[in-house]
Amino acid sequence: MDIESIETPAYILEEAKLEANLKLLDFVQKQSGAKILLALKGFAFSGAMPMIREYLHGCCASGLHEARYASEKMGKEVHTYAPAFKEQEIDEIIALSHHLVFNSFAQWKKYREKALGKVSCGLRINPEVSASPTDMYNPCAPYSRLGITKEAFDETLLEGIEGLHFHALCEESADALETVLKGFVAKFGSYISRMKWINFGGGHHITKEGYNVEKLIRLIRDFKAKYDVDVYLEPGEAVGWQTGVLVATVLDIVENKMPIAILDTSAEAHMPDTIIMPYRAEVRGAGKPGEKPFAYRLAGNTCLAGDVMGDYAFDQPLKPGDKVIFEDQIHYTIVKNTTFNGIKLPDLLMLHKDGTLETVRKFGYEAYESRN
Ligand SMILES: Cc1ncc(COP(=O)(O)O)c(C=O)c1O
Repeated sequence: MDIESIETPAYILEEAKLEANLKLLDFVQKQSGAKILLALKGFAFSGAMPMIREYLHGCCASGLHEARYASEKMGKEVHTYAPAFKEQEIDEIIALSHHLVFNSFAQWKKYREKALGKVSCGLRINPEVSASPTDMYNPCAPYSRLGITKEAFDETLLEGIEGLHFHALCEESADALETVLKGFVAKFGSYISRMKWINFGGGHHITKEGYNVEKLIRLIRDFKAKYDVDVYLEPGEAVGWQTGVLVATVLDIVENKMPIAILDTSAEAHMPDTIIMPYRAEVRGAGKPGEKPFAYRLAGNTCLAGDVMGDYAFDQPLKPGDKVIFEDQIHYTIVKNTTFNGIKLPDLLMLHKDGTLETVRKFGYEAYESRN
C-alpha cells in the first residue's frame, strides 16, 4: 500500500486483520456454543459489515440509530439496550430488534405491553463486581446508572422477562470474566434457570495476544451446562482490535522549548480515548522520547490546548508533508468522531485482501454543515 499517496486524515481498515479477528471469535462461538454480537458502539464501518455478517450472530445496538444500522447493514439478530428508551422511538426500535434489554423496572413496566410477543425482553443488571481500568469505564462504579442492582431488583416483576444482561468489563481477561460471573451468580443465580438467555456484555479482549481463549470457552460451556441457557457476548473492541490505522500529515513544526508537530488530525476529534481514558497510541516507526534521536510532541489542528497525542521520538527529523501513522485506531474512534473546529472528518478506506485500496467514505464540508 502506498501510504504517501493517501489523502489525509484517513482511517484504513485492513480486511485481512479483521478477518483474523472474526475467525477467532467464530472459533469461540463454535467451541463454546455462545453467540457473539458486534457492539456497534465500538466498531461500525459499513465496508466491513458484509464480512462481519459471515461470522457473527448479529449486532448489539445502543438505541434507534444503531438498531436501524444493524438491521440495514447486517440484517441478522439485533439486540437493543439503552439506559432509557424514548416513547417516540420505542415502536420503531421494537420493529427493528429481536432482543430488547431494559435498564430499570420502570422502563420495563412502561414498555412491557408494547414489547411482549414482539421481542425477547431482558433486564440489564449490575453485578456490582467489575474489572475496569478507570471509573470512567466502570459500569459498576458507585452510583452507576447502568443496570439494576440486587437491592433494586424486584422479582415479582419478572413475568415476561426472558433474559438477563450484564456488562462489567473493559479490555479484560477471561480471569476477570470469571470473577464477574461469580459475583453475578452470587447475586442473581436463583433467577438464571428461569431465563432463556444470559448476555455477558462486552469488554472481553478476546483477540488481544495472550487472552486465555480456552478459559473463556470453558467458562461459557460450564455455564451453559449448568443453567441450560443461551449465552451471548457482545464485544466491540475485540472485533476492531488492531485492524487498522489513522494516517495523518505533518502540517507545521513549531518550537516552544521542544519541537511540536501539528498534524491534520486531532486527538480530541479523531482519537478521543487517547484523551478520555487516557492512553498513548502507538505511532509506526516511533518510540518514546530518548529511544530515538528526534523527539517531537504530536498535536492536533484545533484550538484545544490539550489536543495532544503525546511525545514521540523518530529516527529522522520530521518535516511538513511527512505522514504519521497511528496504530490500532479503528475501534472507538470512527464512531465517536466530531467536527470540532470544523476539522475534516477522516475518510474511511479499506485495504482489501487482494491489495486494492477502496475509499468507502469521503468527508468534506457537507459533514460539518449537516451537523451545525
Ligand atoms: C452494554 C455494552 N455492551 C457491549 C459493549 C462493548 O464493549 P467492548 O467494546 O469493550 O467489548 C459496551 C461498551 O461500552 C457496552 O456498554
